[in-house]
Amino acid sequence: MAKNLSTSVCIIGAGPSGLLLSQMLANEGIDTIVIDRQNQEYIEGRIRAGVLESGTVDALNEAGVGGRMQKEGLPHSGFDMAFDGDRFRIDLAKLVDQSVMVYGQTEVTRDLFTKRHETGGQFLFDVSDVTLADLKTDRPIVHLMHEGQAVSIQCDYIAGCDGFRGVSRNAIPADVLKTFERVYPFGWLGILTDRPPVSHELIYANHERGFALCSMRSNTRSRYYIQCPLTDTLDQWSDDQFWDELKLRIGKDAASHLQTGPSIEKSIAPLRSFVAEPMRYGNLFLAGDAAHIVPPTGAKGLNLAVADVRILSRALVERYKRSNQHFIDTYSQTCLNRVWKVERFSWQMSMLLHQFPEHTHFEKRMQRAEFDYLVSSEAAAKTIAENYVGLPLE
Ligand code: APR
Ligand code: PHB
Repeated sequence: MAKNLSTSVCIIGAGPSGLLLSQMLANEGIDTIVIDRQNQEYIEGRIRAGVLESGTVDALNEAGVGGRMQKEGLPHSGFDMAFDGDRFRIDLAKLVDQSVMVYGQTEVTRDLFTKRHETGGQFLFDVSDVTLADLKTDRPIVHLMHEGQAVSIQCDYIAGCDGFRGVSRNAIPADVLKTFERVYPFGWLGILTDRPPVSHELIYANHERGFALCSMRSNTRSRYYIQCPLTDTLDQWSDDQFWDELKLRIGKDAASHLQTGPSIEKSIAPLRSFVAEPMRYGNLFLAGDAAHIVPPTGAKGLNLAVADVRILSRALVERYKRSNQHFIDTYSQTCLNRVWKVERFSWQMSMLLHQFPEHTHFEKRMQRAEFDYLVSSEAAAKTIAENYVGLPLE
């Protein structure tokens, strides 16, 4: 027997985008059902970046999910960039009078789930065969299988928050959807370890052996990354090999303070820039990784997703509360204006900080000149700082 459900907004995907949207709408009395092809435990286990822009911090606070972040998050007023061992601090506080918050996406997701359950959130986990229909009508439908049963969810709007490999984006007809992509010729090998961070702030390093990043989750848990060939596999990288390589890349001073330990997570992630246009088709809206991917070099993935959700939540609230269609109609363009600027920053940071197999001596000198320019020009450092703390919503 098929089951028919009905809601105002059907949200596909229970990652940070879908969960935050659901909570922001619930706070305004707007009903949602969130579906995901995974279960909560699996979603909470995904390890991702951990730097929140101040706008993201504000959004989490306003949604009522910022309590633990305020207590446990680490405010950072700067970060270091290093080039072949020379280190330079981008002083966010001095340059743009703002800071960022270091708090893992895993924790953000847990806080969102806790709040959603407390406030009566409706979820369907472990769904399969999700398809979207009637997007151009005022009653779109999501069809799916759940616990062996066919389910149809009728709604006013569908939010496609189902990440890069979701189904929502491809529900936009091929002659409408335009995609833009760049795949980088390397990956990031990441390690999580229960050891204090090497430095109290992040260090992004370009070294002739490749990029390295020293980050953290807390004062006792560190996250480190090194650039590696995409053909590498995890069994080629023992913990000791990882630490030896990291030490070579971050320079003698940082290396002398590095506390190594067993990895509690290790993974290789590819780097990609990707944008899908438009972000709205009929009554379907794309948000977060479903619409765009950035390489992790500027820590923008989660922040970009939160910005989309803020813009989408405003559009839906205006529609429901004031019958105002304006922000629905401008959603895609408002988001894309910001998305492309953030894509540009993430691409620029990636180009500056990695070793590219195709680079000649000329491009290597250009990278060095760009680094030297940052060190010598407050104006140049300021452009990095204003992007890193987060551009205005619109
Ligand atoms: N049906 C239902 N759910 C799906 C489907 C599908 N066909 N396909 C994917 N999903 C779910 C995934 O299981 C996942 O839980 O959608 C969710 C998408 O979550 P994310 O990939 O975390 O994407 P998003 O919420 O936009 O978060 C963006 O998280 O992925 C990082 O780097 C990214 O930090 C950024 C942020
Ligand atoms: C992380 O802590 O995982 C992290 C931090 C900064 C980045 C990317 C990842 O730019």
